[in-house]
Amino acid sequence: MKFTVKSEKPGTVKAGCVVLGVFEKRRLSDAAADFDKTTRGLLTRLLKDGEMDGKCGQTLLVHYPRGAHCERVLLVGCGKAKEFGDKAYREAVAAAAGIINSSGASDAVSYLAELDVHGRDLYWKVRQMVEISIATLFRPDELKSRKDKATRQLRRLAVNTADADTANRAISDGSAIAGGVELARTLGNLPGNICTPSYLADQARKLGKAHKKLKVSVLGEAAMEKLGMGSLLSVSRGSREPARLISLEYSGGRKGDRPVALVGKGVTFDSGGISIKPSPAMDEMKFDMCGAASVLGTLQACAEMDLPINVVGVIPTTENLPDGNASKPGDIVTSMSGQTIEVLNTDAEGRLILCDALTWCGKFKPDVVVDIATLTGACVIALGAHAAGLLSNDDELAEALAAAGNYAADRAWRLPLWDDYQPQLDSNFADMANIGGREAGTITAACFLSRFTEDYRWAHLDIAGVAWKQGKEKGATGRPVSLLTQFLLDRCAD
Ligand code: BES
Ligand code: MN
Ligand code: ZN
Repeated sequence: MKFTVKSEKPGTVKAGCVVLGVFEKRRLSDAAADFDKTTRGLLTRLLKDGEMDGKCGQTLLVHYPRGAHCERVLLVGCGKAKEFGDKAYREAVAAAAGIINSSGASDAVSYLAELDVHGRDLYWKVRQMVEISIATLFRPDELKSRKDKATRQLRRLAVNTADADTANRAISDGSAIAGGVELARTLGNLPGNICTPSYLADQARKLGKAHKKLKVSVLGEAAMEKLGMGSLLSVSRGSREPARLISLEYSGGRKGDRPVALVGKGVTFDSGGISIKPSPAMDEMKFDMCGAASVLGTLQACAEMDLPINVVGVIPTTENLPDGNASKPGDIVTSMSGQTIEVLNTDAEGRLILCDALTWCGKFKPDVVVDIATLTGACVIALGAHAAGLLSNDDELAEALAAAGNYAADRAWRLPLWDDYQPQLDSNFADMANIGGREAGTITAACFLSRFTEDYRWAHLDIAGVAWKQGKEKGATGRPVSLLTQFLLDRCAD
C-alpha cells in the first residue's frame, strides 16, 4: 500500500473514500463539520436520524455524498473527545482500514490524523496509521490456492495534514516498521514442514543480500560442536533437521561502536521432545520461532531506515522432537559457558538453546543484549495477550524497553528477577536444572538465562502470550518488532 500526504478540504477532495471522525454524542470533528457544510448538512442529518452517534468503533459508510467530490464518505466513531487516547485512535484507524478495504475503494483520504490524541503528536499519529493500515490488510493466504482477498483492495491512502515534512517522515518510518512486522508474521505463520532451521538461515541470507550494511553468517552443527554448545545441540538431537546458529551484523554506526544484540528463539516446531506436549493446539508450536522472526523483522526495518547504529541479530534455531536419539529427562549437558545443566524436562528447550546463543553473543562485545522468546506458558497466564514479560539485570535498559513498548503500542511489563527465585533451579547432580517447578515459571526461566548473561547488560522478553493469536484469527502478530524497532530508534535519538 502506498501512502501520500495531502492538504485539501474534505468536501472538494477527489477520492474513492474520505474518512472523517465523529465523537460522542453526535459531535462532528473539524474536518467532518467542513464536509457537512459542503454537503449541505448531510452528516448532521445522518446523525440526527440515529445512523450513528460516535461511539468508539462505530462506522458508517455513505455512497456518493451529494455536493462532495468523493465516491464515498466513511464516518468513524471515536468515542468521547475528552477520552480520545492511544487505544481509541488505534481502533478508529483499524476500523477505517478494514471497511475501506472491503468497500471497493482503491484509494482514500483520511482526516483522522488531524484529531487530537492525548499526548501524541502528528508523527506518532501518522506512523500508527501506516503501521495499523498495513497490518489490517495483511492476509496469511500465501499457501492457499484460492485467495480470499477483497475484489478491489485499498492501494493508496493519503493522510491529510498541513505538516507534510513530519508526515512524510512518519510514513517512511511506519512503512519500514510495518514491513518488518509483515516479515515476522509471514515467517511465523509458516508451518514446521516448510520453515525449518535451514529455511530460517536462507531467509537471513536473503536479507543480507538485500541490504548492503547487513552481513550474515550461519554455523552448522559441526561448528557448534567445536564451540562446545552442548546445551543447544542437546535439543536438536531428536530431529533430522540440523540446527543452525544464525548471526546478522548490521553496521549502520561507526566502526567500534558497541552493538545492540538481539537474540531470538528459533524453535521451528516444539513438540516438547520426550516430555511430549498434549495434542490439542500442538500445531501452534510452529509459532515457537516467533522470537527469531521478530529479530529478522527488526533487522529488516532497521536496514530499511538506515539507522545510524550497530545491531547484531543472533538466532539459535532447531526443532524439538522425540526420537531414539533425543535428550531424555535426567540427561546432563554441558553448555558453552562450561556450566552443566540437568535436563529435567525436555520441553523447557528454549532456555537450553538461548543459553549457548547468549554466551556466543558475547563475542560481539555488545553494549546491551535483548533476547526475545516464546519461552513460557506461565507468561500467558500472568499477562495474557496484552503485554510481553520483561525481565532484566539492568533497570535503565528495562525502562527503555518498557517506554519503547508504550510508545509503539507493543507493550511489555516488567517482572522481578530477584535472587530469591534462583534456588528453584538447584540440581543434585549438575550446576543447575532446566526447570524450577510450578511457581513463577516465567521468572525461573529468566533466572536460568541470567546465569549466562552476567558479563553484560541484558533484558529478556517473554513473548509467549503476544507473538500469535488463537482462535478464528489464529496467526502470528509480528510482535514485538514495533517495540524493538522503537527501542533502536530511541537509541539513535540519544
Ligand atoms: N514454547 C514453549 C512455551 C509456550 C507454551 C509458549 C505454550 C506458548 C504457549 C516452551 O518451550 C515450553 O514448552 N515451556 C514449558 C516450560 C516448562 C516445561 C518449565 C511451559 O511453559 O510449559
Ligand atoms: Mn517447549
Ligand atoms: Zn518452546
